[in-house]
Order: sequence, then C-alpha cells, then structure tokens
Amino acid sequence: MSFTNQENFAPPRWALRGDLLDFTAAPAWGDIESPAVRFDRDHWLLIEHGRIVGRQAEAPDESWVRKDHAGQLVLPGFIDTHVHCPQLDVIGSYGTELLDWLKRYTFPAECAFADPARSRAGAETFLDALLASGTTSAVVFPTVHKVSAEALFDAAAARGMRLITGKVLMDRHAPDGLRDDVTQAERDCVDLIQRFHGRERLAYAVTVRFAPTSTPAQLAMAGGLCRADASLYMQTHVAENRAEVAWVAELFPEARSYLDVYEQAGLLHERAVLAHGIWLDPADKRLLAERGAQIAHCPSSNLFLGSGLFDWPDAAFNVSLASDVGGGTTLSLPRNMLDAYKVQALRGQRLTAWTALHGATRAAAQALQLGDEIGGLSVGQTADLCVWDWARGPVAQARDAVVKELHERVFAWMTLSDERNLAACYVAGRQRV
Ligand code: GUN
Ligand code: ZN
Repeated sequence: MSFTNQENFAPPRWALRGDLLDFTAAPAWGDIESPAVRFDRDHWLLIEHGRIVGRQAEAPDESWVRKDHAGQLVLPGFIDTHVHCPQLDVIGSYGTELLDWLKRYTFPAECAFADPARSRAGAETFLDALLASGTTSAVVFPTVHKVSAEALFDAAAARGMRLITGKVLMDRHAPDGLRDDVTQAERDCVDLIQRFHGRERLAYAVTVRFAPTSTPAQLAMAGGLCRADASLYMQTHVAENRAEVAWVAELFPEARSYLDVYEQAGLLHERAVLAHGIWLDPADKRLLAERGAQIAHCPSSNLFLGSGLFDWPDAAFNVSLASDVGGGTTLSLPRNMLDAYKVQALRGQRLTAWTALHGATRAAAQALQLGDEIGGLSVGQTADLCVWDWARGPVAQARDAVVKELHERVFAWMTLSDERNLAACYVAGRQRV
C-alpha cells in the first residue's frame, strides 16, 4: 500500500524511503570527508508506534504501509535550543542593539501574553511555524506570565512535540506587567514543574531571562530549584552584547565575570542552556566545559542585532545551533546554518555543513541529555523527521545538478534552502506538515 501526503498520516507501522543523513559522532572542525557522517542513499526507515525500528536498503515486505520520499533528503527533526515564542510579533524590528531592542520592541510585545487567549493563540502559531521549518523539538522562552508557559506546554503536548520551557523569571529592570517577585515566582515554578515536567515529551527549564533582570535573591531561588531536582533544565542568556556585559559588571561587582554570576547561584550544570556566549574569557570557557553546560549559538540574531561573532572553533564546551527569534530573523535552522557559516567566514574560519547540521541535531540532543530519543535516525530513536527537496527552483536545481560529492551537495542545500524546501515533517511518526 502506498500513501501520498495525507494530513495526520500516522499508521501504527509504516516505512519511509529517502536519502537518510545523520551523525554517529561529532564531525571534526573543518573535516569535509567526515567518518561521523552516516549517509544512506535511497534507504528505508521502518517506524512502529512512533519509533524507528529498522533502517535498511531493501524495501520492506508488503505488510508495511509505505511513504515514498525517494530522491529527497531525510534528516532528524531539528532541535532549536533557544527561541522566544512571544517574539514572533517583533521579528525584523529596525535599528537597535540588544538593550534598546528589549526596551523598545520586546518588552512591550511580551506584555500582551498576560492575556491567556493571546498566550494560547501565540503558542499554537509559534509551534506550527517551528514545524513548518522542520524543527520538531525546542527549548523555548515564553514570558514572565505563568499562563504563557502553560499554553506552550499544552500546545506542544497536543502536537506530540519534545518541548523544554518554563516561566521566565524577571523581578527587576523590566516594565510594569513584566515583573514577578521571588515568592510568587517560586510558587508558580513549583506548580508548573509538578504539572508538566516529565509529562509526555515535556520538560521544565528554570528560566532566568538574564542576570540584569533578576535580583540576587531571585537567582538564589532559581539555583535552589535546580539543586532540588537535577532533572530540571536551566535556560538563560550570557555575554551576548558588550553594553550588556558592562551592565552586568556594574550590577554584580563581586562576580569574576558575567558567567560567574550564574555559577555563584548554582545555575551551571549539565542541563543548562545559555544563549550566545560571544564575550566569554578563557576561564569562562573552561567553566562551561567543566559544568557540561551548552552554549546555544544564535548566528542570525548575533548578526541582526550586531552583537558579535561567536568563536565556535575555540569552543571545547557543548555548542548547539539556535534561531533566537525575534532577535534572529528566521525560525529556519538551515538559514541559521548559513548565517553561522558567514559568522565564521568573517572570523577567517570555515564552518562545514557537517558541523552546522550536527549543531542542529545530534549535538543539541546530546547536550540536552536526550541523545537516545532525538537528533538521529537510529533504531530506538523517536521518529521525529524532516524531509527536504534537495533543490527547489531553477537556481538551486542548476547548482544541485553539478555537485560532485556529498559535502558539496549538502552545503549547497544548506545555503540555498529554506522552509519552502520542506516536503514533510513527522513528529513521533505522525505527519504534522
Ligand atoms: N537578553 C535578555 N533577553 C533577551 C532576549 O529576549 N533576546 C536576546 N537576544 N537577548 C536577550
Ligand atoms: Zn534569546
């Protein structure tokens, strides 16, 4: 039996045919012919109850429902490790660096999410937009409002998605309507953790917006939550912009560095995701590696807000790739891979398609301690998949027609593709796009 693109295609047992690409290890920096790349042209993935149960060259027997993506690129669903749901409303806002951008555009937009109906509609639009970009898992900032985290959890559960989020903590240096206080914030976190953490594919992240918007008392409370339950994630921003770094030094004169503010509060651990990390010093970098924390590299945002050029080749700590919408200008991770390439080009370095793709799949999954579940196409992993046209339109097709080897082909795909190339997106074996 054969199916064509049906909405909600999700038989309990089915097989997908296509060009399968994933990673079995981390590709070395600059290595174009990497042994970490696993590419199986025209192979089959066998999927049962949302999980990959086989991977083979031969077509399965007639008892398997078949989905034929022959001639298309099949990748693990992307993992966006840092993105802001409420900021779709301010994506592409003109003319400012980080601190002015927050004040002028971002904080006013986030105020609207106090309204439960706005939070629910925003969460649904946002998650559908992620899926339409091939992103099946994400680490997400909602707003300070408890309802905005609830709405995201509910909308992700309805779509079967792996989602990590938590109410944003901010009790100072933010406008009215966008501040909490330590006692109420702790109560809200505890309630959300009890209701959502570990339910289906949801997990809670203690979400400190960034050091300037939390008092030392609130940072200590956040650290206490992490210490009480090692299965919780932590997400925040660090060392994104030079004026921001200078402000943190004024606010926390006793800290050795911006990163040290989080270290002192007990917020750096294996499940910590820190966005940006452009202006870190060598001691900070060593500390990140020691703690097993990850930096979510957000190249589109870093270029758009003029924040700086992340030193990826020097990173001995975990690095994943992220969109940081609305500082970033696209949810598409292939577009972010291209921006990451340009960031390195400006630094005199070259980013391979392998390191870029790995950062949006296996590297992110491993750093989130979810490597057994997501980020690859191995037997046992959840069938979160995105399927791509290798090339769309005359320019990309002409380029694709003359490629000579695999890295060249994948790099051209990465450079020239966007969400229009997405042929299908599956979450736990169910077609969502
Ligand atoms: N630092 C604190 N808040 C934000 C935010 O919303 N976006 C970015 N890019 N940086 C931040
Ligand atoms: Zn951000």
